[in-house]
Amino acid sequence: MQQNQRASITGIGSYVPGKVLTNYDLEKMVDTSDDWIIQRTGIRERRIVENGQITSDLATQASLRAMEDAGVSPKDLDMIITSTITPDHIFPSTSCYIQQKIGASRASAFDILAACAGFIYAMSIGQSFVNSGAMETVLVVGAECLSKITDYTDRSTCVLFGDGAGAVIIQKSSTKHEILSTSLAADGSQADILIMPGGGAKNPASLASVQQRNHYIQFKGKEVFKLAINNITNLIIETVTKNGLGLEDIDLIIPHQSNLRIIEATMEKLGLPMEKAFVNIDKYGNTSSASIPIAIDEARKEGRLSKGDIVMLVAFGGGLTWGSSVIRW
Ligand code: ACO
Repeated sequence: MQQNQRASITGIGSYVPGKVLTNYDLEKMVDTSDDWIIQRTGIRERRIVENGQITSDLATQASLRAMEDAGVSPKDLDMIITSTITPDHIFPSTSCYIQQKIGASRASAFDILAACAGFIYAMSIGQSFVNSGAMETVLVVGAECLSKITDYTDRSTCVLFGDGAGAVIIQKSSTKHEILSTSLAADGSQADILIMPGGGAKNPASLASVQQRNHYIQFKGKEVFKLAINNITNLIIETVTKNGLGLEDIDLIIPHQSNLRIIEATMEKLGLPMEKAFVNIDKYGNTSSASIPIAIDEARKEGRLSKGDIVMLVAFGGGLTWGSSVIRW
């Protein structure tokens, strides 16, 4: 292995459950309409797990695909890092279940929680372990069953979310997709505007917490909307500058898929055409940690990524947290 090789994405895989929940299905559940959802969010449908299917099942399928793509076997994995806000259990980690399901007995395994920015956070940990030489092969997963924490009686949140998983293998490589830099940020002063209030140490599960519907995602939509656009735009500008690049050098932005209007407003603020943004929110809604790796996989399959392209991953979510990563494809 050459000295100058850097942490790179050497394999990608994704998996979404087969069951489709359309806007028309939601019209029958809450007072909403296909028109409203498309106009305000860009979402047409989302995928939902079947009964009995759980986060580690989706993650396992995505991981096996990423490993096959990279040409690595389960025994090659040194570490598994999963980003999720819908783990199989609060503990043990979902990564441990994935380790067992794929047979990666040598790998250490743990989860991280940074909500919708979690995949970028997890990737940066994997990148650091690989660049330092401490690990050779790291599996990074973003997987969610958001349908399990979505309140299907609340029209302002239930139209947004879906289930899915994506995964990447990170290794040193001189031929695959080099991670040039990763930037992470957080603002805990806004922690309560995007939250699942029930189930933790502050508000453990009780009859009252269930009756108050505290075990579901709650947020202040308008505030999140504005903060997302401003923070993502600033971070993209900072990230290109840090890499000695200009905005015009970006070939494709792969943003977290939270709302088409957030993506459109960000591109407009940057002065970049929408053709430079990858969008698949119409099919999957917001899948939190899973949205970026699913989008990378689909962008590649659609021929949107060519060797040498500068690709910007960017995400924003609860915490608040946000992050970006620049890849030379
Ligand atoms: N169908 C029809 N009407 C609706 C619906 C619905 N599904 N939801 C809300 N409305 C109504 C509201 O009641 C309101 O009616 P009113 O004017 O009579 O009071 C009207 O539509 C406008 O509501 P707003 O909340 O102002 O709608 P807005 O244009 O802001 O869109 C949305 C709401 C889509 C939630 C937007 O604010 C948004 O996308 N915010 C970001 C949310 C986000 O991405 N959060 C990330 C969470 S993911 C994570 O980190 C786990």
